[in-house]
Amino acid sequence: MQDKVIIITGSSIGIGRAMARIMGQRGAKIVLNARNAERLNATYQQLLSEGLSVTAIAGDVSKMEDCQKIIDHAIATFGKIDALVNNAGISMEGTVEDLSPEVFKKVMDVNYLGSVFPTKCAIPHLRKTKGSIIFISSAAGIRGIPKFSVYSSSKMALTALAESLQIELEKDNIHTGIAYVGFTENDPQKTIYDANGKVIPQPNRNLVKTEPPEAVAKRVMNMIENRTQKSVFTPLGKLNAFMNRFAPFIVKKVLSNNYHKD
Ligand SMILES: NC(=O)c1ccc[n+]([C@@H]2O[C@H](COP(=O)([O-])OP(=O)(O)OC[C@H]3O[C@@H](n4cnc5c(N)ncnc54)[C@H](OP(=O)(O)O)[C@@H]3O)[C@@H](O)[C@H]2O)c1
Repeated sequence: MQDKVIIITGSSIGIGRAMARIMGQRGAKIVLNARNAERLNATYQQLLSEGLSVTAIAGDVSKMEDCQKIIDHAIATFGKIDALVNNAGISMEGTVEDLSPEVFKKVMDVNYLGSVFPTKCAIPHLRKTKGSIIFISSAAGIRGIPKFSVYSSSKMALTALAESLQIELEKDNIHTGIAYVGFTENDPQKTIYDANGKVIPQPNRNLVKTEPPEAVAKRVMNMIENRTQKSVFTPLGKLNAFMNRFAPFIVKKVLSNNYHKD
């Protein structure tokens, strides 16, 4: 990590901020990003006061012009890019029938295009450093989950994107990795879309075992250091992936029982 320049999208709170702190503590130079400039600045000031080498650039990853600004800012500040972590994401809740059409678009825009656009802008710079691209997916990117259809779809789309890039970029020695993150402790400021597209606080998920964001951050850092192409995080996540491959009917039964008990 020492002196590596790492862009982490969506890093004002949550897992993104934990990655910024942990990689920064290991000597990396961190480019923070999020849309809300005030919250981004608070994180920037905090990490700066902890002695980390950071810069911050507000921008919306679902807009190509903002992504180019993020990449240009990283180059202007630190002179190179060693890794891009496509972390910015948003979740939703509601059945396909109930969801307003705009929710499908909004979630795909941030979670899918919001990973495509920064990647497109970063590739020429990553070619020079033989750097890394990481996509932050989810257990929901392995199996479609009722009431999280668009979120699942957006994270599955990242699998196809990562697999395509792994071959397109292998001759340039650019590493592409995808992380299937398990249930993680949520930041108190985390929000999601409800079925009407209204931004609401993330509902409590006190039924599931969660990992602290710092643990997720360390796993992602290991993926960059070891140039891992695919990693499923947490024992529950690994069990989900295994069962979904070899006994998908059991996973479907569990999800179905859980869905119909509501
Ligand atoms: N938490 C979990 O249990 C879990 C599990 C599996 C996977 N993940 C994935 O891990 C990633 C981080 O999740 P999290 O729980 O840490 O999320 P979070 O707490 O909601 O934080 C999301 C971050 O992304 C930023 N962001 C959202 N939309 C953006 C946009 N269009 N452009 C730029 N920044 C944007 C937010 O700031 P602004 O709102 O100011 O832009 C914030 O900094 C996501 O991709 C999520 O899908 C999370």
